[in-house]
Amino acid sequence: MQTDVAIIGGGPAGLLLSQLLMKAGIRTVVLERKPRDYVLSRIRAGVLEWGSVELLEEAGVGDRMHKEGQPHHGCYLTSDDRMIRIDFLEGCGKQVMVYGQTEVTRDLYEAQEALGATILHEVDDVALHDLQSEAPFVTFTREGAQHRLDCAYVAGCDGFHGISRPSIPAEVRQEFEKVYPFGWLGILSRTPPVHEELIYANHTRGFALASMRNPMLSRYYIQVPLNDRVEDWSDDAFWEELRRRLPTEVAETLVTGPSIEKSIAPLRSFVCEPMQWGRLFLCGDAAHIVPPTGAKGLNLAVSDVFYLSRALKAQYNGGDGTLLTSYGADALQRVWKAMRFSWSMTTMLHDFPGQSAFDRRVQRVELDTLANSAAARGILAENYTGLPY
Ligand code: APR
Ligand code: PHB
Repeated sequence: MQTDVAIIGGGPAGLLLSQLLMKAGIRTVVLERKPRDYVLSRIRAGVLEWGSVELLEEAGVGDRMHKEGQPHHGCYLTSDDRMIRIDFLEGCGKQVMVYGQTEVTRDLYEAQEALGATILHEVDDVALHDLQSEAPFVTFTREGAQHRLDCAYVAGCDGFHGISRPSIPAEVRQEFEKVYPFGWLGILSRTPPVHEELIYANHTRGFALASMRNPMLSRYYIQVPLNDRVEDWSDDAFWEELRRRLPTEVAETLVTGPSIEKSIAPLRSFVCEPMQWGRLFLCGDAAHIVPPTGAKGLNLAVSDVFYLSRALKAQYNGGDGTLLTSYGADALQRVWKAMRFSWSMTTMLHDFPGQSAFDRRVQRVELDTLANSAAARGILAENYTGLPY
């Protein structure tokens, strides 16, 4: 087999990159470990920066997003019964789109199918070769047979546990990591959202988040200790704890129901530098992980794809390799800004086990500052809705 760009991973990053490159006449092959249904069964984030919306429109997958997605002009940060509204339009003139990552991925699969994309599912033993040469190749097994894919470039879109990042020699890589001492227990329920806008709740019992997918599909999270297991939490126990962490006036209106998905996710901040090595370019979770408090995971995957698709198009359509050379630096400058924002939101809103009275007081002052300063709210709005590419 032979192609221009071998894409490892058929999640949002890999599919969006393949879609943008194919629309520009650049050949791709996507190698995905899991079956398509498995990829589409993942429940992930739900907030798109407007820059992500525009890139998805450019990829030709904006129709259902605009039909079923919900533009949001603000969100709330709360602390006990205090509610602070962050007005995105007032703060920075931008908005976000609430539309589930699962739907984004589904739209991309359908668009890729319409383009006749080559997406090989259930591949195993993917290995990257000759990445420092001008003729890299990928080997993999599928349906019991060994395969080789010759290409000009490899896009590592295979997530945090993929093989692309480790294909950069350890002595070349510098990895930055911060692991948070708690997790998020999340549930999905076919109930009306408790509020029309997202609520990020700081509480002495722990953080909570009220989000949604559509008017009859709610997504809620509560901070839990790292050693909690999902089987420790009945639906009733979840609802009771969520109520205690939301402002009283909101909690009184909470409509509960059976969870249709329930899981615990750990929180970490992680960045790998460089994001490129020879003909290998890392995108999305393969290169970095953010705590979900800033809603940046999917948006950073899209951000990387913006920079890499732009660079590959310049190479193929004009023979200019400048942007390919600077891809890692270009992507990282935006990654680190989102990393800082996600860290700051996580630090401000969570109850850190054993945190000092000083730290707790600073958290309160952070929220006071947001409550009393339009400029502070504007900076948060600017980061939440997405900094320019
Ligand atoms: N070979 C082939 N495919 C692989 C391999 C491998 N060795 N390892 C992982 N994959 C696939 C996974 O099955 C997954 O479908 O790569 C894909 C990576 O997708 P994501 O993990 O979703 O990462 P990304 O596309 O960067 O999207 C980031 O997804 O996980 C969320 O919170 C994250 O919202 C963020 C977004
Ligand atoms: C979600 O809806 O799943 C969601 C929304 C905002 C976040 C994290 C998760 O910050």
